[in-house]
Amino acid sequence: MNLSSNFPIAVFISGSGSNFIAIDQAIQRGEINGHIACVVSSTEKAGGLNYAKENRIDHFTPPGNIFKNDVELAALLQQKMRAYKVKLVVLAGFLKKIPAEFINDFAGQIINIHPALLPSFGGKGMYGKYVHEAVLAYGCKISGATVHLVNSDYDTGPPLIQKSVPVLNDDSAETLAARVLKIEHEILPKAVSYFANNAVEINGRSVQIIPK
Ligand code: GRF
Repeated sequence: MNLSSNFPIAVFISGSGSNFIAIDQAIQRGEINGHIACVVSSTEKAGGLNYAKENRIDHFTPPGNIFKNDVELAALLQQKMRAYKVKLVVLAGFLKKIPAEFINDFAGQIINIHPALLPSFGGKGMYGKYVHEAVLAYGCKISGATVHLVNSDYDTGPPLIQKSVPVLNDDSAETLAARVLKIEHEILPKAVSYFANNAVEINGRSVQIIPK
């Protein structure tokens, strides 16, 4: 059930939507003073859309021709976000670089979850299994996840929350991904709750949580 509030959130997905679901479940537990006003998916096939349908959360997938055109995509996203009065955009696996025009319109109100400890193992092409494969290939002893503000470059916005996990001797990309995903589901809802409580102070690259 989609409870309305005065802090509408949009979540952008492309896959199973486990991070989207983690946010909604945190809302249902009363841990986030907000509601998910809409889900934007980069593909109609995203598993997370099933959860949105079952829980009556509005959702849409930009049509292919618009999806490919940054100017038209930015305009559609801006129009939709304004319609829902969205105050926070959460990128959780959306498989397309968000157009700069849209990012500028929402400066300071877009966050992303990345499955590594940025600035390591970030940037173009660093998503999903490629991240964990690179961490293992490098021989790292820890990895983790980062929630960061989104700017116009891949994964370079200032971090808000980071949390580490150990890399084990017998880890595969799959076992490491599962360990990292578990903490993604912890830190992303927490980051959303800070924004919903107006507890985030941004000064350049300094992003601090100042509980109200
Ligand atoms: C997560 O691993 C996240 O770090 C990355 O995209 C993936 C989305 O997974 N940005 P899910 O769809 O939330 O399960």
